[in-house]
Amino acid sequence: AQVSQAEFVKSSTRTEDCPSDGLPEFALVGRSNVGKSSLLNSLVRRKRLALTSKKPGKTQCINHFRINDSWYLVDLPGFGYASAPQDLRKDWDKFTKDYFLNRSTLVSVFLLIDASIPAKKIDLEYASWLGQNQIPMTLIFTKCDKRKKKKNGGKRPEENVQDFQELIRDFFQAAPPWIMTSSVTNQGRDEILLHMAQLRNY
Ligand code: GTP
Ligand code: MG
Repeated sequence: AQVSQAEFVKSSTRTEDCPSDGLPEFALVGRSNVGKSSLLNSLVRRKRLALTSKKPGKTQCINHFRINDSWYLVDLPGFGYASAPQDLRKDWDKFTKDYFLNRSTLVSVFLLIDASIPAKKIDLEYASWLGQNQIPMTLIFTKCDKRKKKKNGGKRPEENVQDFQELIRDFFQAAPPWIMTSSVTNQGRDEILLHMAQLRNY
């Protein structure tokens, strides 16, 4: 399930403009700064294939990356970035949700949640929206390398992960699969790639 080749294909802001070759794809979504682009780079073992930043709001389009010439990883803008202009945020929200609802080659959404802090309301709202719309989802907990800190609620990543799953339990008929990751230590990389390979073969 390893990545031997990865290339950027295109940026789109409309579902209709996304690649039309019919290859299966997986989308990375989550709050701004949660680590979507970093995770993509970790999965493909490249430092800067997807652009990352300390500042939220870096990724602004639907970005398609073709993997092994046979499937796509899709990097998306984050949600919940309070300092981005309202219009821009509305735009991102609109086209990403349209993409989730109408992209027929989308196999599963990977919802990224920061495991180093307690659940945010907006993460719960997003999970709820995905559940209501019956969009297949895998939960990816990021930043599991970070140690617990008092100012972040004083819980270990494992505890935040447990709490989050408890909080979203009623949103889904069956509990979504979940994987703990870190783009610093590459924890979870093989598990995600294996999971994606299994999903492609269904
Ligand atoms: P937007 O494109 O703005 O929505 O953000 P994003 O979700 O793509 O986040 P990005 O990958 O750009 O990472 C945001 C910040 O978090 C960067 O400073 C990363 O270095 C850091 N980061 C990402 N993943 C991890 C991780 O697993 N562990 C730690 N410690 N930091 C991480
Ligand atoms: Mg990004």
